[in-house]
Amino acid sequence: MKITVITIFPGYFSSPLSAGVVGRAIEAGYLEIETVDLRDFTTGFHRQVDDAPYGGGAGMVMMIEPLAKALAPLSETVRVLMTPAGKPLDQEMLDRFATLDHLTLVCGRYEGVDERVVEHFIDEEVSVGDFVLPGGEAAALAMIEGIGRLIPGVLGNDQSIAGESFRDSLLAEPHYTRPADYHGWKVPEVLLSGDHGRIEEWRASQRLERTRRRRPDLLD
Ligand code: ADE
Repeated sequence: MKITVITIFPGYFSSPLSAGVVGRAIEAGYLEIETVDLRDFTTGFHRQVDDAPYGGGAGMVMMIEPLAKALAPLSETVRVLMTPAGKPLDQEMLDRFATLDHLTLVCGRYEGVDERVVEHFIDEEVSVGDFVLPGGEAAALAMIEGIGRLIPGVLGNDQSIAGESFRDSLLAEPHYTRPADYHGWKVPEVLLSGDHGRIEEWRASQRLERTRRRRPDLLD
């Protein structure tokens, strides 16, 4: 799979994408990340990508021309704009994006992008949560990490995807590892019992209880 990222900060992605599961996925050739510097599509000495909003108001707006030029050659890909005004990202969306051959992520900055970009060059708008970041780069990174681990072959053990939070609309159960007793803080006895039926029952009830307490909206 290939993901093209359009950004004014192409260097932003290099360090996080060299680490962990996704770093290995890129190294092994499961995933290719191409960063495109939006300023390469500007004209003029200042390489300007933003301008004042029509109608007045605070902040700056990303101009249509550099984005149009950057996005035109990517019309065969699914083009996603990262914006707090987008559809909230969830596991279902990641599952769908992970099946694509080529995805393009556009990182907005400033107050947002000229709406004509959205109308003519964007297939979907996605938000990573009900909060405002200074730009879409961290949001794009979250998408890349969420997608990368779903590409077949990237995670060795398919089980680790099957049992995780959100896979069946429930949060994951708490996990423990050695030591069984850390200065008196003990691991739940059932996990040491060796009784797999009881362990599964405990895990299922923990998932339900946690979801009920923390995310009742997921049970609706
Ligand atoms: N850009 C700024 N805030 C964002 C958010 N919450 N999600 C996606 N892109 C953003």
